Amino acid sequence: MRNKNRFRSNIPRSEITPEALYRSRRHFMQGTAVLSATALLAACGAPSGPPEAGTPPPPGAEGQMGTAVPTFTPAPDNLTSEQDILSYNNFFEFTIEKETVAEKAANFVTAPWEVAVGGLVRQPGVYDIATLKQQFEPEERIYRLRCVEGWSMVIPWLGFPLHKLLEAVEPLPEAQYVRFETLYDPAQMPGQNSDWYDWPYVEGLRLDEAMHDLTLLATGLYGKDLAPQNGAPIRLVVPWKYGFKSIKSIVKIDLVAEQPQSLWMKAAPEEYGFYANVNPDVPHPRWSQATERRLGEVRRRKTALFNGYAAEVASLYEGMDLQENF
Ligand code: MTE
Repeated sequence: MRNKNRFRSNIPRSEITPEALYRSRRHFMQGTAVLSATALLAACGAPSGPPEAGTPPPPGAEGQMGTAVPTFTPAPDNLTSEQDILSYNNFFEFTIEKETVAEKAANFVTAPWEVAVGGLVRQPGVYDIATLKQQFEPEERIYRLRCVEGWSMVIPWLGFPLHKLLEAVEPLPEAQYVRFETLYDPAQMPGQNSDWYDWPYVEGLRLDEAMHDLTLLATGLYGKDLAPQNGAPIRLVVPWKYGFKSIKSIVKIDLVAEQPQSLWMKAAPEEYGFYANVNPDVPHPRWSQATERRLGEVRRRKTALFNGYAAEVASLYEGMDLQENF
């Protein structure tokens, strides 16, 4: 059963996407498909070029895509279409080409799957996905997602607040940060054969950010289990931060004393900081962050501080220099 608690976070009516704009955007996307592999990858910080193409996933690996949640309410029209969410992805473990992630990840085996939660906690544990979903009932949360590259979506997630899991493992007083790790399995994830990045993908949050009620562990979207390309079977969603903080296909969560170093911080420290809060006033060294292109729209729209969640999260950063702590 799904919890009816919908968290809409004030997405205004002005974000509704007219059908005609949606159609012209599909046309536009076809034209830019060739560009994206190089231009947009560079946007996400490859040191000097694209990773080498890897080998395809082993033949015969079973796809584990989803059991539908039957009670899902039809989408309001301000949501990004399910088709766009499923077909325009960043998941560098599979490929750097957004439009082919879904195809390359189609056979990714996501069951059985376990998440180990440990580090500075009183009650470490290894949770399988079924247990997690049983223990922490998924609810629907509609959030904006803003990629550091300058595109955005509005996504109806299914998931549960991370703080529920963290409370269950009882963090020790020394725990100050949370470190997340994606599966490392180059046989299934050909991108991990490239040495452009220091695999596995790692991300981190300050403990108070992780405990914030907006911070979600997502297990589905549009009423279905997550598809492999979106980070099945479980991923983080931190809606006020750039999308790269929302680490996919998590196998390990550790409470730690020191600030974790993420994959992106290691790859390009001058471009990707630990905080990565959406901020139109702090440009990326190579492009402005003042505006964004919402999928399904042609005209760029203004980017909002903390991706529009300032009322909920600005207090977390009181007294901090947001230019310095980018
Ligand atoms: N997590 C892993 N493990 N690998 C990745 O390449 N890409 C990040 C983030 N999480 C990424 C990841 C980036 S840059 C973005 S914008 C979002 O996932 C995209 O999520 P989506 O494909 O579901 O829209």
